[in-house]
Amino acid sequence: MEERPGDDRPQLPPPSLWPVGFAVGIVCLLVGVVISWVVAAVGAVLALVFGFLWAREVATGSPQVAGPPAEEPAPDAPAVPANVGEAAMPEPEPGERFPRSKFLEGATLGLGGVIGGIVTLPAVGFALLPAFVDQEAHEVDLGPIGDFEENKWSVVTFLQDPGQGEISRRTAFIRNNGLLGDKPSFTVISNRCAHLGCPVQSGGPLFDEDKQEIKTKNGDVLVTPTLPAAGFICPCHGGSYDQEGNRTAGPPTRGLDRYEFLIRDGRLVLGNTYSVARVEGSGKSARIKRYELAGPGQHVTGLESWLYPIQAPH
Ligand code: FES
Repeated sequence: MEERPGDDRPQLPPPSLWPVGFAVGIVCLLVGVVISWVVAAVGAVLALVFGFLWAREVATGSPQVAGPPAEEPAPDAPAVPANVGEAAMPEPEPGERFPRSKFLEGATLGLGGVIGGIVTLPAVGFALLPAFVDQEAHEVDLGPIGDFEENKWSVVTFLQDPGQGEISRRTAFIRNNGLLGDKPSFTVISNRCAHLGCPVQSGGPLFDEDKQEIKTKNGDVLVTPTLPAAGFICPCHGGSYDQEGNRTAGPPTRGLDRYEFLIRDGRLVLGNTYSVARVEGSGKSARIKRYELAGPGQHVTGLESWLYPIQAPH
């Protein structure tokens, strides 16, 4: 509001941009929690900086905005009372640094912030944190590598976390590819469909009569030979994959996830799962680009991959 000589209307402080910046920071932070830690970090920094500036402005008075210098009233203009223009800002009582209304305003905002934090932080913590804590990989011992016949596929079920019992039983399609140089090579594919997560089946017969049960420290591992001549097939919506787990038909957005593995003391040990877009080559000569484990239906390449929420660690 422009101040004119003789204008006795109350002069309001110019609007401040700090609350707007603070709001933008909070929005960035919330959106970032869904799509990317980088965006969340930028939002947190914005919210902190603008929140600090806003709080400082509230504590110290009117916004620190440079305005045009006040014009000297014309000599013949009627005298303006000293307190005109400060109607919204009462004079401090003698001995007070700030007007009491300022103190009440700051105290209300501060208390509101504290109460808001006390109410929302535990709720947000209980909702989000469990997905991020105690999620270290459970290594799974599948037994001696000699139990996996070379160049043959098996459907292998095992307990991901023996402490949780049968509810943690998982399935993988495993092929012993023989030696790669002097190291054993395996293909270990998850049976979780990359569309909506249904259990994918072997596209060929299962040889139940040759099923074997291997006792390990992780509990029983069941190994059933199979011949997935048609690759792997999802019964839910007809998603199809070839023997490397590459999508060949249907709605899945990428190939089947894979398990990390290592050979320890001659035994096959599984680790974390990871996602792949597409595998080039096959068997021991397959070239695999690894991505962080993505959720069902989530793209791991291209623009679409930015549209999906952050995945909790697995
Ligand atoms: S869940 Fe597998 S195709 Fe839909």
